Amino acid sequence: MTGGAGGDTVRAVATSGDDGDEAGGGGVIAPPGRDVRGALGGSRLDRRPELAEELARLRDALARPGPRLLEIGFDHGRRLSATAAASPTWTVVGLEVREQRVLEARARAAEHGLDNLVALRLDARAILASPDAVPEGAFTVVEALFPTPWPEGKARRRLLATPDFFRDAARALAPGGLLYLATDVAWLADAMAASAGAAPELEATPWEEALRERRPPCSQRSRREWRCAEDGLPVHRFAFVRRGWASQRGPGSS
Ligand SMILES: C[S@@+](CC[C@H](N)C(=O)[O-])C[C@H]1O[C@@H](n2cnc3c(N)ncnc32)[C@H](O)[C@@H]1O
Repeated sequence: MTGGAGGDTVRAVATSGDDGDEAGGGGVIAPPGRDVRGALGGSRLDRRPELAEELARLRDALARPGPRLLEIGFDHGRRLSATAAASPTWTVVGLEVREQRVLEARARAAEHGLDNLVALRLDARAILASPDAVPEGAFTVVEALFPTPWPEGKARRRLLATPDFFRDAARALAPGGLLYLATDVAWLADAMAASAGAAPELEATPWEEALRERRPPCSQRSRREWRCAEDGLPVHRFAFVRRGWASQRGPGSS
């Protein structure tokens, strides 16, 4: 794995959530799933009327037949829309905490008639932690490209790729489903590798082959991926397959 200044930070990341930080947004009550400290709007999803509309959209998306892909932190959303355009039989769900990005993604979907694209302003960690919001096996692919590295202070509680995240993502994936992550930050790559061990249902697998076989094609790089290619920065990529039917069949097969 990558080296660098990771050691201490990696340990800190692997235990984030146990550091005594208070959650943002006031009093925290245990949610139906698990409390997520610092989540957008808090993590008690069923007590947040302002999230009801987004959660209803998510429910509708998960009721659609066929394979489903979840992109976390889609930013400019071009990867999201390219995926949806290339694979109309897939439901492509994007979660982003930045409202403007969500509105842009929806506008692009409407403009191009991408009925299978669902962009939502929700905190991915709270959503994945809630079995009410995301039933077991709901997604065929979950991916997070270049999740924001928040190494210090209270912002650390907003880190995505913690052990809890891996456990939640494993639960959200159908057997044979793919979890795909990338980062250009060496200590975060170390933290991802360490945290993945929390989900024994996930089996590490070569990422290129996994993308080819288990993810719908996508002509677009994410913004950060493009920047890394331009600047010649090394990118650390991780692919995991949810154990189960993996050896018999891949997602999307009948
Ligand atoms: C560093 S950017 C990477 C964006 C894009 N995936 C890329 O590869 O260029 C991280 C993105 O994740 C979003 N984000 C951060 N935490 C999130 C969370 N808990 N749920 C959903 N989106 C989140 C941020 O708003 C930001 O757009």
